[in-house]
Amino acid sequence: MTLAVTGATGQLGRLAIDHLLTLGTPSSEIVALVRRPEAAADLTAKGVTVRHFDYNQPDALAAALVGVDSLLLVSGSEFGRRATQHQAVIAAAKAAGVGRIVYTSAVGPDASINPVAPEHKATEAALAASGVPHVILRNGWYHENFLGDLASAAQAGQIVTAAGEGRVASAPRSEYAEAAAVVLASGEVGRTYTLTGDVAWSLDELAADLTKVVGREVVAQHVDAEAKSAALAGFGLDAGLVGFIVGVDLAIAAGELGVTNGALAGLIGRPTTPIIETLRAAA
Ligand SMILES: NC(=O)c1ccc[n+]([C@@H]2O[C@H](COP(=O)([O-])OP(=O)(O)OC[C@H]3O[C@@H](n4cnc5c(N)ncnc54)[C@H](OP(=O)(O)O)[C@@H]3O)[C@@H](O)[C@H]2O)c1
Repeated sequence: MTLAVTGATGQLGRLAIDHLLTLGTPSSEIVALVRRPEAAADLTAKGVTVRHFDYNQPDALAAALVGVDSLLLVSGSEFGRRATQHQAVIAAAKAAGVGRIVYTSAVGPDASINPVAPEHKATEAALAASGVPHVILRNGWYHENFLGDLASAAQAGQIVTAAGEGRVASAPRSEYAEAAAVVLASGEVGRTYTLTGDVAWSLDELAADLTKVVGREVVAQHVDAEAKSAALAGFGLDAGLVGFIVGVDLAIAAGELGVTNGALAGLIGRPTTPIIETLRAAA
């Protein structure tokens, strides 16, 4: 049984391979698909086979997938290009006879205002149209997305948010990676999971956690989308990034990222780790 992981030099991909090894998958049965083989020496040292795999080279993808039974397609990081890239990977997997694909999507992509949603929706549609058996992992937000708040909490005693009373059921990246490894190794097909942390916290509750971690009072300063956009632009962020960050706040405000259902804890076999532990480890 050969299991392959894309984005294997990335954070989630690397963690997924580590979890596969921990679960008992022999390294000889793991293929790491990477666009920068020079960054994969540690994977080779673990006994994992490394193959070159660049989503932007569609004609070369099928050859790299020969012999792969199950593929973890980790969504790419080049926003705006991802739907096309993922479609190329799915077509190549079909051409190469890959038996199943596990894809890292996002929560509720069909009817979401989250800026990440359209490319995930398009990829899910491509998977459905491909006929390749698959599992969709609709991952919630990573705890690590909020580590940037540590600096403003420590320096200014505040986090500025347009997310209102919205809640975030985040979990550590590693726990999403572990769930992906469990599903990849399981052979399961035809299922869509919404994976989120056990606890949905508000931005005021995040500020309370930050207060404990940085050792000074931290408050959530609630502003509207226009004010947050202006503040970010004032820091020199380009319009695309400003729109992305504020769009995520609005998705949180709309309640899209606050879903809790226990599915992630169910896959990893224990409760998910609270965000304060990830904040403490990084502080
Ligand atoms: N749920 C969330 O909160 C959340 C947060 C951030 C990201 N995400 C999504 O989840 C994915 C995994 O997260 P992560 O933290 O592991 O991100 P990451 O560390 O940035 O990893 C992204 C991986 O995609 C690879 N990649 C990008 N463009 C590629 C291309 N053209 N061809 C082949 N590989 C390419 C990167 O390769 P290199 O190693 O060569 O750079 C990297 O390995 C992200 O890519 C993004 O789609 C989700």
